[in-house]
Amino acid sequence: MINPMELIDRTIMVTGASSGIGRETAILLSQLGARLILIGRNAEQLNKTLASLEGTAHHVYTFDLSNIDEIPRWMKEVTSASGPLHGLVHSAGLQFTRPLRIMSSENIEELMRVNVTAAIFLAKAFRQKGVSADSGSIVYLSSVMGLVGQSGQSAYSASKGALVTLTKSLALELSRENIRVNCVAPAMVTTEMSGKMLELLTPEQVLQIEAMHPLGLGRPRDVANAIAFLLADTGRWITGTTLVLDGGYTAH
Ligand SMILES: NC(=O)c1ccc[n+]([C@@H]2O[C@H](COP(=O)([O-])OP(=O)(O)OC[C@H]3O[C@@H](n4cnc5c(N)ncnc54)[C@H](OP(=O)(O)O)[C@@H]3O)[C@@H](O)[C@H]2O)c1
Repeated sequence: MINPMELIDRTIMVTGASSGIGRETAILLSQLGARLILIGRNAEQLNKTLASLEGTAHHVYTFDLSNIDEIPRWMKEVTSASGPLHGLVHSAGLQFTRPLRIMSSENIEELMRVNVTAAIFLAKAFRQKGVSADSGSIVYLSSVMGLVGQSGQSAYSASKGALVTLTKSLALELSRENIRVNCVAPAMVTTEMSGKMLELLTPEQVLQIEAMHPLGLGRPRDVANAIAFLLADTGRWITGTTLVLDGGYTAH
């Protein structure tokens, strides 16, 4: 029996591995045979993810990705201990619902720093000599909010839309280095992030959002499966792409 998505002997870094989609992705990748490097700020939650992984030889590192300029040196240090990376998943991200009248420049800058600038610097760090293996695959977490609009989501939408075009440009720039770059664009997935967003809404508004997903809300495993597909050899000929995972949200 073959498993076209197996990841045996691959080392993959997952940011945002302390929660939600990042955690579930790390668990699935370990089940497919990968060694994981788990990144987040909350050590306790990262260790909780670690305890759920299959296999051994995984590593946990706490790092605040808003320290942008430190990312390349830090990733070099991490990989000098773990060996070169075959994949990188940037699942760390911030989201807030904020209409323009209460939006501050600090809010926008904090969001852009983790969602976009860190994404660029993670790629800059990944392509360094010795950091990535002979071939590599990067997967970003965009969102349907980066493809279609939603009131109160302007900053978040802008950051997720930026990842769609960042993916295309980096795919072209890094193809000669044998690095593929793709992103996934989920609609609402039940995690801590979406839970906080739904808490702000009335029951009627929640029902409205649910109704916009003909197949219902997503589960973290729905996104993890697509990320694994892009990282594994099943994604060998795919770069610069945004894979929409939305239960029909954007089919309207
Ligand atoms: N859930 C959804 O409905 C949905 C839909 C579309 C797209 N997405 C995207 O998918 C990704 C994951 O979402 P999620 O729902 O899993 O979110 P989540 O449960 O809120 O997790 C967010 C993760 O980001 C990490 N993080 C935040 N700021 C960080 C920083 N400065 N440095 C390092 N790590 C940081 C957090 O780790 P620490 O707290 O340990 O730092 C946490 O592990 C995000 O990019 C999100 O925009 C989510």
